[in-house]
Amino acid sequence: MPLDTAKLKNTIQKILVQGKGILAADESTSTIKKRLESIKVENTEANRRAYRNMLFTTPGYEKYISGVILYDETVDQKDDMGRTFSELIASHGVIPGIKSDGGKEEHPTWAPQTITRGLKGLGKQLDEWIARSNGTLGFTKWRQVILVEPEPSIAFIDYSMHVMAEQAAWSLSRGLVPICEPEVLMDGIHTKDQCSVATERTLLTLYKKMKEHGVDPALTILKTNMVISGKETKTDTMEEVGKTTVAVFHKAVPSIVPGIVFLSGGQNSLQSTENLHACAKEAAATHAPWVLSFSYGRALQDDALKTWEGKSENISRAQAAFLHRAKMNSLAQEGKWHMELERGT
Ligand code: 13P
Repeated sequence: MPLDTAKLKNTIQKILVQGKGILAADESTSTIKKRLESIKVENTEANRRAYRNMLFTTPGYEKYISGVILYDETVDQKDDMGRTFSELIASHGVIPGIKSDGGKEEHPTWAPQTITRGLKGLGKQLDEWIARSNGTLGFTKWRQVILVEPEPSIAFIDYSMHVMAEQAAWSLSRGLVPICEPEVLMDGIHTKDQCSVATERTLLTLYKKMKEHGVDPALTILKTNMVISGKETKTDTMEEVGKTTVAVFHKAVPSIVPGIVFLSGGQNSLQSTENLHACAKEAAATHAPWVLSFSYGRALQDDALKTWEGKSENISRAQAAFLHRAKMNSLAQEGKWHMELERGT
């Protein structure tokens, strides 16, 4: 079946807008459990709905956010007016997308490395999500994590990027833009150079596998990590992160890829904004061909989550906290952020 290239390109154009990024709100039920427990809120369907409802009804968030990644349960969960979250998001001119992977599983040979599951029956599953969203879904997101230590083998990277390229082909066949997310994890004590080697190797392999699967990188968006030292290592300066990250992209990401969005990966909210700002400046200085932006989960939500505490009287303050982080990252994306603006809350 021929691809609906015009639709796919139109979706990409709407996502990669200057000054906008993506809200990753696609935490699985077990991941959101950890987030809710951190504010002493029970992980019930009603509480998950109330939390997402607070985020998605934030007045004016569409000024800074062009896409929202949803989880299976959230696609057709209802807002207070009885509209599905997908439709609510789309009504703001924001594109809803779906976490299409089925989570990770430790591999018998490469453990502790894990392989992302979910290829089996993916075409049918995508059709179901599209129907449940009333046709509003615009993209998918598939995440494969890579530990720096023990050093990922060539065979592991090869196989996991092969899977990622195949899911991209499935996504395109359903008119959904694949956001491909290889994430070299910050877990550990590795150096920035080790992260750089693993990231470059992974990205080069991803685009090789896309070629083998007949996937046009111009119809995909890359979501990946910044090149940064492990969480337990001395932190890098933002200038270092900007230079190293963009240098790796110049070596490994084809210029026809329309955009690269960052995950926050365990950096705190401020660090994520500072480093995005440094990457944006470095990209501009080196005439990078791709749009660079953010697709943060924790770095956009943490402040709002802590402010909300599961209480309806805190909703507007929590929404203000979310909006503030979205605005700071929007400014960073445009290379216009500075510390004084952070204090403007
Ligand atoms: P974090 O920004 O919290 O790393 O989440 C992004 C994401 O989509 C992980 O898959």
